[in-house]
Amino acid sequence: MRNPKSFYLRTYGCQMNELDTEIMAGILKKRGLEQVQEEENADLLIFNTCSIRDLAERKVMGKLGQLGRSKKRAAIIGVTGCMAMAKKESLFKKLPHIDFVLGTNNITDLDLVLDEVLKGETQKIKTDLKFEENLDYLVASRESKTSAHISIIRGCDKFCTYCVVPYTRGREVSRPGADIENEVRKLAGEGYKEITLLGQNVNSFGKDKPESKELFHDLLYRLDKIDGIERIRFLTSHPVDITYELMQAIRDLPSVCEFVHFPIQAGSDRILRKMHRIYTKSQYLEKVALLKETVPGVSLGTDIIVGFPTETEAEFQETYDVFKEIGYSVAFLYTYSPRQGTPAMRWQDDIPEEVKEERHQRLLELFHETSAKEREKLVGETVEVLFEKRNKTNMLKGRTRCWKKVIADGPDSLLGTLQKVKVHSFNHETLLGTVIA
Ligand code: 5AD
Ligand code: SF4
Repeated sequence: MRNPKSFYLRTYGCQMNELDTEIMAGILKKRGLEQVQEEENADLLIFNTCSIRDLAERKVMGKLGQLGRSKKRAAIIGVTGCMAMAKKESLFKKLPHIDFVLGTNNITDLDLVLDEVLKGETQKIKTDLKFEENLDYLVASRESKTSAHISIIRGCDKFCTYCVVPYTRGREVSRPGADIENEVRKLAGEGYKEITLLGQNVNSFGKDKPESKELFHDLLYRLDKIDGIERIRFLTSHPVDITYELMQAIRDLPSVCEFVHFPIQAGSDRILRKMHRIYTKSQYLEKVALLKETVPGVSLGTDIIVGFPTETEAEFQETYDVFKEIGYSVAFLYTYSPRQGTPAMRWQDDIPEEVKEERHQRLLELFHETSAKEREKLVGETVEVLFEKRNKTNMLKGRTRCWKKVIADGPDSLLGTLQKVKVHSFNHETLLGTVIA
């Protein structure tokens, strides 16, 4: 097989996958390959996949099937990410034209596997369940020069009954705090202004390493001290692990943004129990109340699944009501999708797709209404925006501390800087404003 000179990487799914893609891009660039944006021009194609819902998997399978049918396939093809973990060798049966499969914990093996494929070995696969401690985060080749994703903990020990993540990403393993600090210092030196700390449950950080005595809020205190980093964000939080210490850190640390994404998933206690979310609606609401009291002006984000097995109309209504009561500014709304290997597979997927879709639609409408009202309230206000890039109409584009999208006119010199912007109007998802000199 001929030595590849260029590569094309496509990411599906979550921010952790996006970061893994940036690490793979770094490994390949170090090898001397050039990244291209068009798959037709690449000698190596890698699809970094997602298994969270059936739709995510079908998209990739469709894409890979189509590649196999096209005649001019001289390129090397690799499949990485969660689907690699969920489907393993069976991928080669369905897609005999793919050359290698690398799991979520085998990114460091990319060089090695590529060498083997180039020697003529076929259908190479590595899918370890155990996290690779020696993954070199510093090699990552990031798209943004302003805002960076940083992995702080991988895997998940929560085992919600619907979710494949504990099986595709394994148990929780935290990175040493000092390594994270090193990486953030390096990025600050390169001019990065914002970091987003990533984990399936960032609030578990440090619990798997009791000897280090550093928990998530301690890590925030450590990172807040780094000069140059103006904003620290984090994703995702499991509601039971949100502590008062964390709320105080959000309140007291200047760089930590006043936004918490902590998915409620459902509003009915019976469904929450069946999902194994380990909190009740009222426990969740208590956290919301304490958070709002401790961090005035905090914005909240959530994920919701509608149509979980046996969910009644009245139970969906409880989700709808609690969603309305809390008033989220960010929401990802999903219809339930049964996943192979999860405990929820033992229950019949009994809610018809039309019913799931109709519930999804109702919640979406409510979300659009409440978030439009939220944007309307900001008209006339001044917000702080970190400008990251230009949009299609050549306007500067950025976000507020609370994750609101803002666009404004201005010169290139404002890219990568924090600016005060006076909001004058809004559209369906963006605030429009003027930079205040
Ligand atoms: N079906 C639908 N949504 C799911 N999620 C996770 N697993 C499933 C599933 N089987 C959603 C949850 C989670 C988000 C990342 O994806 O809401 O928080
Ligand atoms: Fe999945 Fe639950 Fe873990 Fe989130 S907390 S990754 S939903 S198992």
